[in-house]
Amino acid sequence: MSEHNVLLIGGGGREHAIAWKLQQSDYLGKLFIAPGNPGTAQIGTNSDLHISDFEKVADFSIENKIDLVVVGPENPLVDGMADYLKDHNIPVFGPQKDAARLEGSKDFAKSFMEKYDIPTAAYKSFSSDNTEEALSYIDSRGVFPVVLKADGLAAGKGVFICDSREEAEIRLDQYRSDENLRKASGTIVVEEFMEGEEASVFVISDGFTAKVIHNAQDHKRVGDGDTGLNTGGMGAYCPAPVMNKDVSEQVEKEIIGPTITGMQMEESPYKGILYVGLMITSTGPKVVEYNCRFGDPECQVILPSLKNDLLDLMLSAEEQRLDQKEIQLDEKFRCCVVMASGGYPESYEKGKAIHGLDSVDEELLVFQAGTIQSDDALLSSGGRVLNVVGSGDTLREAIDHTYQNVEKIHFENAYYRTDIGAKGLKYYPKG
Ligand code: AMP
Ligand code: GLY
Repeated sequence: MSEHNVLLIGGGGREHAIAWKLQQSDYLGKLFIAPGNPGTAQIGTNSDLHISDFEKVADFSIENKIDLVVVGPENPLVDGMADYLKDHNIPVFGPQKDAARLEGSKDFAKSFMEKYDIPTAAYKSFSSDNTEEALSYIDSRGVFPVVLKADGLAAGKGVFICDSREEAEIRLDQYRSDENLRKASGTIVVEEFMEGEEASVFVISDGFTAKVIHNAQDHKRVGDGDTGLNTGGMGAYCPAPVMNKDVSEQVEKEIIGPTITGMQMEESPYKGILYVGLMITSTGPKVVEYNCRFGDPECQVILPSLKNDLLDLMLSAEEQRLDQKEIQLDEKFRCCVVMASGGYPESYEKGKAIHGLDSVDEELLVFQAGTIQSDDALLSSGGRVLNVVGSGDTLREAIDHTYQNVEKIHFENAYYRTDIGAKGLKYYPKG
C-alpha cells in the first residue's frame, strides 16, 4: 500500500493521541492537523483551518492531496462533515450525518434501541414546551432518581439525575431558560435510572463489519471518589475489569451486533468509531449512550494499547474491508491522569507556564490538550491541559507509574484527581 496524506480534524488530547498513533503507520505520508495543538505540531503540520467551514476543509484537502480525512470530535460529524467531503470525493473516516444521530439525537438513539431490542433504560420523550406531560410521566413512574436528557449535543451538560419531583421540575424549566441548553433541548428524554458500574467499549466499523478495539473506564466527575461537577473526563484506565469475558460477549451479541445491523436496516450504515457507554447492571449490560467518536481521555489509554496500524484500520473501514482485520492489543494496563487548570470545569486562569515535561520517564506518554506555545514556554490555555499516560503489567503498576510522573510536572494551580483507576483495584485483591 502506498503512502497516504491525512488531515486530522480536532485539537484536544484525543487528537494528539490519534496523531501520535498515526505517525507510527507504515502508510502515512504527510499529516496535517486542524487546528491541532503544540503536541500535534511536533508530529505533523498544524493548520488553523476553520473546521466548521466544510468548504474550506474540502478545498484544503484537494490542495494538499489528502487521501483520508480523520474526524476526531462529534460536532462536525453530527453537522454532516463526512457527507460534505464524500460529495466532493474526499475519503473520510467518520460516520455520515444520519449515522452520527446515534450521538447527535438521544431521542433517535432511544427509539432506535427500542426498535432493535437493544437493552437500555426505559424512557419516554417529550417536547420541552410540555413540561406538564413530562411531569405526569415522572409521577406515573413514581421512582427516583429519574434521569433527564437534552436530545441534542450539549457538551456533557445536558444530563440531570434528579432525586425528587421538585428537582425534575426545576431542571425541566432550566432546559427552556438556560441559553446554552435551549438549542439542544427542543425534545427531552425522561429515562429510568440504571444502577451498576459504567464502562465504555470502542468499536471500529465499516458499516457492515464491526470489531471491538478495547474497553475503558472514564472518570467524569471533577472530584476524588466521583464527587463534584461533571467534566469532559478527568482520567481513564484500561482494560475495565468489569468487562470480563462473559460481559464482553454479551455486549457484542446483544448490543454491538444489533446496532450495526440496525443502522444498515435504517439505510444509514455506521462507518467510523462507535463508542458505546454501558451500565453493567444486575440484569446485564445496558446502553447509557452512544457516541460517534473516540472518548477523550479514553482514547489516550486505548491507542497506546493497540498493536495494529491505526491508519491501516481506518483505511480498511473506509474501503469496507474490515472483515480482513483482527484487532491486536498488548497485555498492559494503562492509566491516564488529566492535569487540569484549578477551577475547571468552572472558571479558571490560563497562561500558566508548564514545567517538568523533560523529566518524565521514557515510556511515559504526555498528550497535550489545553496548551499553547509562546516563544520559549509551553503555557496552559484551557481547562484540561495535559493527559499523563503510564502503563504497567498490573493496574496497580500502571497507576503508580502515572502518578509518579504526574508529580514531576508542574504549573500554577494544576489540579488532578488522585484516584484514577482506583475503582478497578477491587478486582485484583492480590495486586
Ligand atoms: P450521557 O451523556 O448520556 O452519557 O450521561 C452522562 C452520565 O450520566 C453518564 O455517564 C452516567 O454516569 C449518567 N447517566 C446517564 N444516563 C443514566 C441512566 N439512565 N442511569 C444512570 N446514570 C445515567
Ligand atoms: N470521556 C467522555 C467523552 O469523551 O465523552
